Amino acid sequence: MKTRISIVMAAVIGVLIFLSGCHPAARDGARAGLSMENSTSAGRRLVNFNSAWRFAKGDQPGAETADFDDSAWQAVRLPHDWAISGPFNAKENGYAGKLPWKGVGWYRKTFTIDKADSGRRVYFDFDGVMAFPKVYVNGQLAGEWDYGYMSFRVDAMPYVKYDGTNVIAVQVDTRNHGTRWYPGAGIYRKVTMTVCEPVHVAHWGTFITTPDVSDSSATIRVQTTIDNHLDVESEVTVEVVLLDPDGRVVAKGIKKEAIPAAGSRELDQLLMVTNPRRWDITAPKLYTARTIIRVGKKIVDADVTTFGIRTFRFTADDGFYLNGRRVQLYGVNLHHDHGPLGAAFYTRAMERQLEIMRQMGVNAIRTSHNPPSPELLDLCDRMGLVVWDEAFDKWDDKADRVQGQPPLESYGEKQIRNLVMRDRNHPCVVIWSIGNEIGNQPYDREGKSPERVKFMGDFVRKYDTTRPVGMSCHIPGTADEPILDSLDLTGWNYARRYANYRQHYPDKPIIYSESASTLSTRGFYELPFPNGKTEFSKQLQVDSYDLNSAAWSDIPDVEFKLMEDDDFVAGEMVWTGFDYIGEPTPFSQEARSSYFGIVDLCGIPKDRFYLYRSYWRPDVTTIHILPHWNWPDRAGQNVPVFVYTNGDSAELFLNGKSLGRRTKGRLPERPDNFAQGKPAEASSVESDNGHVAVNANDADRSTRWCAADAGAEQWWQVDLGEVRPIRYLAIEFEKEAKNYSYEIKVSTDASTWQSIVTKSTSRSPRWGGPTRIFHEADAQARYVRIEFTELGGGTWASIREFGVYPEKVESDYYAVTYKYRLRWNDVVYEPGELKAVAYKDGKKIGQAIMLTAGKPAKIRLTPDRRKLAATGEDLCYILVEALDNKGTLCPLAENSVRFKIDGPAEIAGVGNGNPLSLEPFQSDSRKLFYGKAMLILRTVDGQAGRVRITAESEDLAPAEVTVRCR
Ligand code: GAL
Repeated sequence: MKTRISIVMAAVIGVLIFLSGCHPAARDGARAGLSMENSTSAGRRLVNFNSAWRFAKGDQPGAETADFDDSAWQAVRLPHDWAISGPFNAKENGYAGKLPWKGVGWYRKTFTIDKADSGRRVYFDFDGVMAFPKVYVNGQLAGEWDYGYMSFRVDAMPYVKYDGTNVIAVQVDTRNHGTRWYPGAGIYRKVTMTVCEPVHVAHWGTFITTPDVSDSSATIRVQTTIDNHLDVESEVTVEVVLLDPDGRVVAKGIKKEAIPAAGSRELDQLLMVTNPRRWDITAPKLYTARTIIRVGKKIVDADVTTFGIRTFRFTADDGFYLNGRRVQLYGVNLHHDHGPLGAAFYTRAMERQLEIMRQMGVNAIRTSHNPPSPELLDLCDRMGLVVWDEAFDKWDDKADRVQGQPPLESYGEKQIRNLVMRDRNHPCVVIWSIGNEIGNQPYDREGKSPERVKFMGDFVRKYDTTRPVGMSCHIPGTADEPILDSLDLTGWNYARRYANYRQHYPDKPIIYSESASTLSTRGFYELPFPNGKTEFSKQLQVDSYDLNSAAWSDIPDVEFKLMEDDDFVAGEMVWTGFDYIGEPTPFSQEARSSYFGIVDLCGIPKDRFYLYRSYWRPDVTTIHILPHWNWPDRAGQNVPVFVYTNGDSAELFLNGKSLGRRTKGRLPERPDNFAQGKPAEASSVESDNGHVAVNANDADRSTRWCAADAGAEQWWQVDLGEVRPIRYLAIEFEKEAKNYSYEIKVSTDASTWQSIVTKSTSRSPRWGGPTRIFHEADAQARYVRIEFTELGGGTWASIREFGVYPEKVESDYYAVTYKYRLRWNDVVYEPGELKAVAYKDGKKIGQAIMLTAGKPAKIRLTPDRRKLAATGEDLCYILVEALDNKGTLCPLAENSVRFKIDGPAEIAGVGNGNPLSLEPFQSDSRKLFYGKAMLILRTVDGQAGRVRITAESEDLAPAEVTVRCR
């Protein structure tokens, strides 16, 4: 059955939206300078165009035509991502989630327009279609777009009928979309139909800036572009009314102008606001501008724009200033998907993500690596989060240009125009980014060059000069050439790669646009600890003691320290706030979603969440114990315990017995390094530049022994002074360990040698790699010698530190963790109760308890909200957990739970945060993963009532919960 949309209802809604704006007080027409009568004749009508579509996958010959029979197609509601329902393809690499996102899909919808609307303009606004949409209206191509993340408008007027049935058909084709993560597929963001008079405010035609702001007053500049589609000149009056955050009128301006026939004109008005209330991350106060266009006495159009009054600046030496005060950016990168919902954008899903991030202390979001949904910016405006708004990822080979067409310049201009025009009124946006990690010329296809960086930046400046233009860089050497000259600032990804840029551009601000890339799986712990950050579990999960990261990146503590040391940097943006589908480093082949998130794919916090919160929100009490306390196979063996707290010390008790108090900043004692300070020699020594042998065993990482030439036949040797038991070697090279083949030999007399280690060069990882390497040994010797047999990657033999130990030692890489975490490394496991009592400045701030759970006995359901809106777009996230019969969470439970929904809601998705799981996201059951899973419900448009959710599982007592939709 084909569904029609009544736009009469939508018209009423449109007027109400216009009248209400964001603020209830603004409904008072008299105060707002509008009478009801005038407003009802306001010409613009916005129609939510999300419902009653039909969808089919694959080529559908003739589907663009009006009379095509789509009755067998699937009825869908937007937002829609056809690929998220799967199935997963286990054999495929996980970079884009193993989901069937590649292909063609068609959408169709039937609609009518009132006869009375004859002569009025009709536009369709698409917030995002993945990818290459072609929009047909009544069989004719009305518009198309070539970047899946960008919003675009289609002018449908030439093709619509005002007195009959119309059909809009959209062809979507993702086959040529390039990506490094899961992009989704389909019309995944909202669609709006706008019906308005021929004379109207142009699309994104209101631009509000605040050129002068002081405590006593602010100048508000309102630029309004007006389109006239009539073939005669039109004399218009443009009235701008400003409302303060309480909805009171605080300024008004009126201007008359003639708009040329079939043309446009921009009007400029300056208004004054006294005692402005600032938009700030602590109190995000928002003003509203109402723009009313009259021709004669008739209101022909009205536009509502939200804006904020704030000042900010990025400085080269002291980071970021908002409203005159330095604000350290505690940021996260967020990819666009919403886990089990896929790319389909729901405002509530986004709001929840941001709420979780804010609880952790986040004040900045980077929309990696593409234009976000516009609602993300509305939310950040409202919630007080600053935004790095990004155009592209790796435009040299990943943006949606097929074989370099259209040329970068015209393509870039078109996309950047839409991005900046769309987003420039949002007070939350403080940086325009022209892209992420674009390769340098000439060794990438169409990498960055001074010219390309400049024209991309200038496209931004054409539409907004009030914010800095930057990009995220990753190749330190870029700064040796003039490539980045035209940018106002730069972001740098990982490992202090900004150091070289800082040397070349001491006057330009820097942001740490990607930090950490720490990896972990919620709930998974493995012992013993890894020796180094890239030593991963064989189980294809990543240990949650937060000691692993990608080769090119670091654990959170390293970044905390770096930001303290380099306080000229505006702050860090962690990769990533949430897990996302795709890019499952380090198990790219096996897994389907990332391990990078601070919270898992369903929004359940991992341990790291509490580490960040303890540091980013020092005034909020955090006492978090890890790991869980269910280790049946390790009774009597070591299970280390960490506590993440904002306190400075804590005492740990196991079954009431104190295991001692730990204080942040105190390192445990380490066994002697037999090599330290002992006589050393090497195949070559250059005393002039300090490349002497003893630099490699002087306990100073900043000095090194380095071979005089790049030849392979080099060696270094230490005399321990006497025969020693050698069980462990810890070497830190200057270059990545993968570059070296070597052999380590030991001897008691320096004439007979025994080989104890041989290692060859390797090709992985492709990018970077650890410089520290460890070897277990079992020898008695006085002399230890390393001989380099092969050097890869254009490197040279070079050692920063060479350690020889009688037992295994923790890598000094982890020394920094003792500054931010409290660690009890020697705990011997016995089941029962772990208790941490935390202190700050000598005062007890609280305690936390971790209990050993018994057998899983029952299910617990915890909805995030109990009152939902019956809009078809509201969501309820219900946490599903297994408890033992005393109510303790069972951290190892993996029971499969089945859900039943009674009432007006449907299952939008299920998940459990397991990156390896190939169970479908759209299903009525889910296995628990380390004790937890998530059920996501969606309301039904126009259907109010109670919804009863029941969860059942074999062996567990069922659970039930009720929510209400209104
Ligand atoms: C960065 C890149 C991100 C993501 C990340 C993983 O280099 O910009 O998109 O791939 O690495 O660590």
